[in-house]
Amino acid sequence: MSDHTYCVILAAGLGKRLGGDSPKALASTRAGALIDLVLRGLEPLKPAKTIVVVGHKRELLEKHLASSPAAAHHSIETVYQDQQLGTGHAVRCALPALVGCKGTVILTYADHPLFRPETLRHFLEYHRYKKSTLTMISFQTPPPNGYGRIIRGSSNQVLRITEAKDCSPEELLIPEVNSGVYAVDSSFLKPAIDSLENKNSQGEYYLTDIVERASKEGQTVNAFPLGDPKEAAGVNTLSDLAFVNRVLQERFLQRLQSSGVIFDDLSSCSIDESVTIEPGARIGPHVQLKGTTTIAASVVLEGSSLIINSSIGPSAHIKLGSRIEDSTIGAESSVGPFANVRPGTILGAHVRVGNFVEVKGSTLHDGAKASHLTYLGDCIVGEETNIGAGTITCNYDGYRKSKTTIGKDVFIGSNSCLVAPVTIGDGSLIAAGSVITEDVPADALALGRARQEIKSSWAKKRRDLLSKKT
Ligand code: UD1
Ligand code: CA
Repeated sequence: MSDHTYCVILAAGLGKRLGGDSPKALASTRAGALIDLVLRGLEPLKPAKTIVVVGHKRELLEKHLASSPAAAHHSIETVYQDQQLGTGHAVRCALPALVGCKGTVILTYADHPLFRPETLRHFLEYHRYKKSTLTMISFQTPPPNGYGRIIRGSSNQVLRITEAKDCSPEELLIPEVNSGVYAVDSSFLKPAIDSLENKNSQGEYYLTDIVERASKEGQTVNAFPLGDPKEAAGVNTLSDLAFVNRVLQERFLQRLQSSGVIFDDLSSCSIDESVTIEPGARIGPHVQLKGTTTIAASVVLEGSSLIINSSIGPSAHIKLGSRIEDSTIGAESSVGPFANVRPGTILGAHVRVGNFVEVKGSTLHDGAKASHLTYLGDCIVGEETNIGAGTITCNYDGYRKSKTTIGKDVFIGSNSCLVAPVTIGDGSLIAAGSVITEDVPADALALGRARQEIKSSWAKKRRDLLSKKT
């Protein structure tokens, strides 16, 4: 039987510099709390037990762990670290929870959320393959920096980790540093942690001191080099948190891209992890997709669209600069450029909502068109009906909202005002510039405008008169 894996996550710190008064482990990123990201990273290691060392505001963290879906995949036990006396002390607090646990213990931090699941899996495989007693994840970063330096011997073997604050000037020049993630044989870990002392510049119990003990005992100690140092990023400040969010977004977009979503300029887009996009959709630059939005196959989203909690049907075309919220866009429909589709809108198939058109709380059935400069609020538009440029549904009288019902195959002439509540029958025609205040029967023509008058030669006479005067 392969040996068991146990995880210990140090999470006692407070997130003061993140602007809050809650445990740092609960600081939120676009993909969940820091602790959730760490738990998801550790999931493929299938730990038999995951021990979370809690401290400041432990009740908040424990409450979160009790309900977080990321925690549901772990068998979690929390242990309390009363005072933060150092990373070694934090692990000492976890020892009682490790009694009887034989195998490999992974030690990591709640504020280092970017280790990829596959990296951690390779790390554990490497540790086992090398038959190490202790392996840490290391990476290269140029000095100056505050990381613990990996000190190697004449045959390149790892001797110890020296904290930046305890380094000699020569040691400070070493670019290989400790990420803070370790795999340790359980039988070595317990006595090593028990024997830690705090005789160093910070008066702390350094977890890193177990490395020197292992090498002095002649145990196998290795460093697993990280290919992408970004994975080792820690979160102390709001700027670190912003960096983590950028990396998470980049990874999510790359996952979408490798699933077959076509991006014109991936790095300019902002897409929530709750959004689903089918392969074959094309996403233009500066597109923002939020909430429960779903984008079907072969959709084209031109640049700068903002879509919130909406469903975009197959082969729909959302043109430049459109905003869509809480709405449904049917197959092969087109919206924009510069359209505003507000909550409660349902567009059927082959519908066109064109430039400078605002739609709110309305249903446009298959084939309906409102191509230019229109406001449709609280209305129903039947199949194949054409709404002329400048049409306005007057849905608000200053007190109440009222509905406009327009049948199928209707032609609404340009610049008409439809004063709600009003019903326009199937197949009818509204003359351009009409103000419609009464229901229009099916197949009728409705005119609601002043009659045109012609005064022959009037303009010429005026011209002649005015030009004589000067
Ligand atoms: C630690 C390592 C250093 C490494 C660096 C990587 C030690 C002595 N040093 O330094 O070699 O390069 O991480 O980021 O381990 N924590 C507790 N309880 C404590 C102390 C810390 O839970 O008593 C938690 C903190 O909340 C934090 C993490 O452990 O999440 C790391 O602690 P921190 O003091 O920041 O370690 P570093 O000084 O950065
Ligand atoms: Ca730190």
